[in-house]
Amino acid sequence: MILFVVLDMNKSAPIGIFDSGIGGLTQAYGINKLMPGESIVYFGDTAHLPYGDKSTAAIQAYSIKICNVLLEQKCKVILIACSSASSAAYDLVKEYVGSRAKVFNVIDPVIHYIDASFGGDKVGLIGTKRTVASNTYKTKIDALGKGFEVASLATPLLAPMIEEGFFDNKISQQVISEYLSDKELKDIQALILGCTHYPLIKNEIKAYYQNDVEVIDSSDLVAKEIYEHLKSANLLNDESVKHHFYVSDYTNSFERSTKLFFKEEVKLELYKLWE
Ligand code: DGL
Repeated sequence: MILFVVLDMNKSAPIGIFDSGIGGLTQAYGINKLMPGESIVYFGDTAHLPYGDKSTAAIQAYSIKICNVLLEQKCKVILIACSSASSAAYDLVKEYVGSRAKVFNVIDPVIHYIDASFGGDKVGLIGTKRTVASNTYKTKIDALGKGFEVASLATPLLAPMIEEGFFDNKISQQVISEYLSDKELKDIQALILGCTHYPLIKNEIKAYYQNDVEVIDSSDLVAKEIYEHLKSANLLNDESVKHHFYVSDYTNSFERSTKLFFKEEVKLELYKLWE
């Protein structure tokens, strides 16, 4: 007997992306830039922002709830566009989603890049309290077996600072230099931006290090891995695209801030998770 496996996935299905809020739009921007033929369904869990201060169990529960929304929309890919959720919920989400969509996080592409580009150096990581406490980056870098030293520093002021539009100014420079001068990060060769808000302060961080330290931003690396997957699975789309940007709690200020992260203001649609 011959068994035919029919995959319920087609090229025109959207790419699902979620984050605790609108910071993950930096990842959506990277995907849209590399793959303008792909429709995006973005979910920002603004009702539960910030994830960086939440427990693992809470982030896992929110993530599964959001995945149901993205699966209802028949997404062919689900990207956890938040480092805090990638460290707290990736394994669970992957198991839950199974073969219904391919799940990506924002951590593994960075680990692959470090593996390919460095050998046994001291690597720094900045991120939310949850991301740093999870030790996920360190565990994955240690597993490369190349003798890397990983120095992690929680930088909880940065995400709210960026959301308030405080970057490229004196205040942000002072906060950034206060964090980066921490002795934990002394003598690093590379710094991982372990939060999807941080691409907005990448230039300030680079300026602080004056090219002595490579600053690693996941957005282009993640987009590239998704592109490779879609290409090899013959799922790349080039038909007309339609994006949707959902949030679990709507305010005008969230909508105005989308421009910071997506380089253009987008229309947010309210989608209540628990109702
Ligand atoms: N975008 C989230 C991350 O990448 C940070 C914001 C939050 O704490 O929710 O970790």
